[in-house]
Amino acid sequence: MKNFLIVGHKAVTETFSLNDLPGAAGRMDILCRCINAALFLSHDLRRDVCVFIVLKGEPSSPKIVRFDGSMVRYLSPDERSCASLIKKALEKKAQDFWTESTAGVSVRKGDMEAIIKELEMKITYLREDGEDIRAKIFEGYSNRLFVLGDHLGLTEVEEKMISECEHETISVGPLSLHADHCIVLLHNEMDRGKHI
Ligand SMILES: C[S@@+](CC[C@H](N)C(=O)[O-])C[C@H]1O[C@@H](n2cnc3c(N)ncnc32)[C@H](O)[C@@H]1O
Repeated sequence: MKNFLIVGHKAVTETFSLNDLPGAAGRMDILCRCINAALFLSHDLRRDVCVFIVLKGEPSSPKIVRFDGSMVRYLSPDERSCASLIKKALEKKAQDFWTESTAGVSVRKGDMEAIIKELEMKITYLREDGEDIRAKIFEGYSNRLFVLGDHLGLTEVEEKMISECEHETISVGPLSLHADHCIVLLHNEMDRGKHI
């Protein structure tokens, strides 16, 4: 499974209105676009991808919502559809273990650290000043945790957490891009790579 983790530093942790994803929901729009970029092909889904969004906004952070590409249903490639599944997940009581809210979507309490511990996989951190993606040969990436920040990037504490694990830092290009665009570029490189 290829796993994507995106940290939403302002994303709310209780139910929210679908009419204001960037504002009142704390840039939930960014996380929805990342989920779509990670999971969707044209008329299909990437069944070998799992997406974790870490919600660190008010009032009861942190929580994690997981979209499992092998199981997910009722998801269409638009932000509102994705947001409505996140909203349903937040209507469930989050506990220290996963609770499924709709097919393939689950919620739990926890921060990035919980996922790092749960997956025990090498981390590929996407960062503007990382190693050039074009210098890489994408072998052995079928079990990997890819980590990206939201509009605020990652905090020093989050970066320290990554640095204490087996990891690499890669860049998809010379400019700072939106996280969902980075996911598309990364997928494309891996799609073209050898033995992934
Ligand atoms: C909009 S950028 C964050 C902006 C910037 N770090 C800041 O705080 O001003 C969102 C995320 O996309 C990823 N990202 C953006 N551009 C990238 C690039 N050229 N290569 C790799 N990752 C990139 C990083 O994970 C980043 O945290």
